[in-house]
Parts: sequence; C-alpha cells; structure tokens
Amino acid sequence: MKLLIDKRGKKYLLREDVEEFHTSLGVVKLSDAKPGDKLRSHLGHEFYLLEPTVVDYYDKLPRAGSIILKKEIGPIIAYTGIGSGSRVVEAGTGTGALAIYLAHIVGSEGKVYTYEIREDHLEIARKNFAKAGVEDRIEAKLADVRQGIEEREVDVVVFDMPDPWLAIPHAYEALRHGGFIAVYNPYIEQIRKAYLAMQEANFKDKRVIEILEREIEVKKVGTRPKTRMLGHTGYLAFGRKY
Ligand SMILES: C[S@@+](CC[C@H](N)C(=O)[O-])C[C@H]1O[C@@H](n2cnc3c(N)ncnc32)[C@H](O)[C@@H]1O
Repeated sequence: MKLLIDKRGKKYLLREDVEEFHTSLGVVKLSDAKPGDKLRSHLGHEFYLLEPTVVDYYDKLPRAGSIILKKEIGPIIAYTGIGSGSRVVEAGTGTGALAIYLAHIVGSEGKVYTYEIREDHLEIARKNFAKAGVEDRIEAKLADVRQGIEEREVDVVVFDMPDPWLAIPHAYEALRHGGFIAVYNPYIEQIRKAYLAMQEANFKDKRVIEILEREIEVKKVGTRPKTRMLGHTGYLAFGRKY
C-alpha cells in the first residue's frame, strides 16, 4: 500500500499497483514515484507520497461497529507490557483496529489470537488485517469467547465486548503467571461487573481508569484547549494473575 496526502492534509491509502490517482485537486501520476517524493497534480497542486504506518491503516479502516480509540490503545499496551514476541488473546475482533495495533507491537515473533462471534465482522477484520500486512501475526477465530479460550500461557488477554465478565474466568486459565488482563467497556456498570469478576477469579493489582484527551489549539491569538472535546469513550480495567 502507499499513502498519498494532499496539501489540505487529506489522506488516500492506495494499492501498490495504482499508477494514476484522480482527486478534486487534479490527477496525480504515481508510476515512477517512491515514498518521500513530493508530487504535483496536473493542476499544479502539491501532494506527498509516504509509506503507510499502522497509524494510517488504523485511520482508514472500513469499520464493523465502533473501534477502540488510540488514547485507550496506548494505556492497554503500556499497562500490560505487550511487546515484541508477546502472545495476546483479544475479543471481540470487531473491525480489527485493536488487533492490528497489537499485531504491530508483538512483531513477527509474537501472535494475536482474536475471537469474534459475528461472521460479517470477522470478514471485514480479515480484509483489514491483510491490507495492513499483519495477517501472518493474527489468528482470527469465529468463536464465542464466553465458551472458553483455547490458548494457554499467554502474556495478555484484552476484552472489548458487552459482557466480558462471562469470559474472565477463561482469561485467568489462559494467562501465564504474571500475565495481565485489560478490559474496555463504555458503561460504568459493565466495568464494575468486570472488576468484580476479576476479583472473583483471583486477579491481583486490579484498577479501573478513564482516559480523557484534551486537544490544545495553537493560534496566533493564543494557545488553549479546544472548546469542544470528546467527553466520553469508555473505561479500562486491568488486573494481573499471580
Ligand atoms: C466494540 S467491537 C470491538 C472493536 C475492536 N476492539 C476494534 O478495535 O476494532 C465488539 C465486538 O465483539 C464481538 N463480540 C461480542 N460478544 C462476543 C463474544 N462473546 N465472543 C467474541 N466476540 C464477541 C461483537 O460481535 C463485536 O464485533
């Protein structure tokens, strides 16, 4: 894939074999262009050609419902220590946005096992994995994670689904000693049930957090937070097996 950006910052994720691209700012020839090149459309407008990263794949994903935002993905990785070579179980797959980030972080030595109950969601996610070039690092399963987790001795389990408390005992069984669980839920009642289920399953170091992100506007007249912000997305609960 290649990433074309126009002078307004609008981004286009294009297949490698696209030789000519038509935009409202003119036609851009890509046949001899390489990442890093500054191009001009036939109308004289500037374009940039880059190699896409996980950030671009995430931003451009065709969606199957809501996805976890980057402001929550960061803490999931930071608080569970997911890194190169990690084996991670996640459910549900949804669009595959989180799975793509996790696959990027675990690298070619790691593995992401993702569970999804809806075939249509899994189909979209699988296409997204291929587009992002991480399909080799992800095992995507059409399965209900409340019925059990097949993997054992995994480093981290992440749940983004309506009733994670029904799968938390399976997460405990799947995790290695010292492994972490992370749960994301939009409602406080859900995250409370998840926390209590973690307690019941004997998870330690439990905590619930909320991440608020406020963008700062830098203008000629002064610098200050934007007047509008995303008020709420969800809560994150963490626990550790030991
Ligand atoms: C909010 S979406 C997940 C989004 C995903 N984290 C992402 O970033 O793209 C929740 C998904 O969980 C799936 N799901 C719900 N219950 C499930 C279960 N018991 N086992 C597996 N998947 C489940 C739903 O079908 C839905 O696709």
